[in-house]
Amino acid sequence: MARKTCVLSIITCGAGPAAAVGELVSLALGRGWTVQVIATPSALPFFDARRIEEVTGSPVRSQYSKPGAARSRIPDAIIVAPATFNTINQWALGLTDTYALGVLAEQTGLGIPIVVLPFVSDALASRPPFTRSVQALRAEGVSILLGGDGIRPHPAHGEAGVANEFPWRLALDEAAEMTGFGA
Ligand SMILES: Cc1cc2nc3c(=O)[nH]c(=O)nc-3n(C[C@H](O)[C@H](O)[C@H](O)COP(=O)(O)O)c2cc1C
Repeated sequence: MARKTCVLSIITCGAGPAAAVGELVSLALGRGWTVQVIATPSALPFFDARRIEEVTGSPVRSQYSKPGAARSRIPDAIIVAPATFNTINQWALGLTDTYALGVLAEQTGLGIPIVVLPFVSDALASRPPFTRSVQALRAEGVSILLGGDGIRPHPAHGEAGVANEFPWRLALDEAAEMTGFGA
């Protein structure tokens, strides 16, 4: 029997498109996902967390819980969007100094399908540490939608216009491809 809903964690980082993460939330809800949003501390100033909580019915998490507090649900899939240079590099190295990185570290190890929409300038994307991080995460089965049919790095200092056209749908289509849910 077809599943009625699956849980999608949206992990959002501190870059321009985070201001419109509500679009991704709405699209995901429209495709039947139950959505929970996790933000890095740098992402929080970009969007209205209360509004997202109203729409999803779940708290926006950005910090580790106190011992004994309720934990987020283990999701069926994760979308990291927008994913910053910082989070991608730290994640690839196994660093966990934000709650978002802690979740990514553990849930990559659990083999949960993960889709990433990076938002980085061409200057940052050309750096060998970033290239190595993308390669390392892909080798662990993470789907990073960069280059090819995915997103292209934006010109340094020219990100504003590009942020308005962020291709949220690509990430949802890829999550559907990986899980068989939410097409
Ligand atoms: C207005 C603004 C725009 C930013 N745009 C980007 C961006 O496009 N890509 C990026 O990787 N970092 C961008 N940054 C820098 C990140 O927010 C910064 O590296 C931060 O440490 C990322 O933390 P996080 O990965 O935990 O979200 C931007 C910062 C600000 C304030």
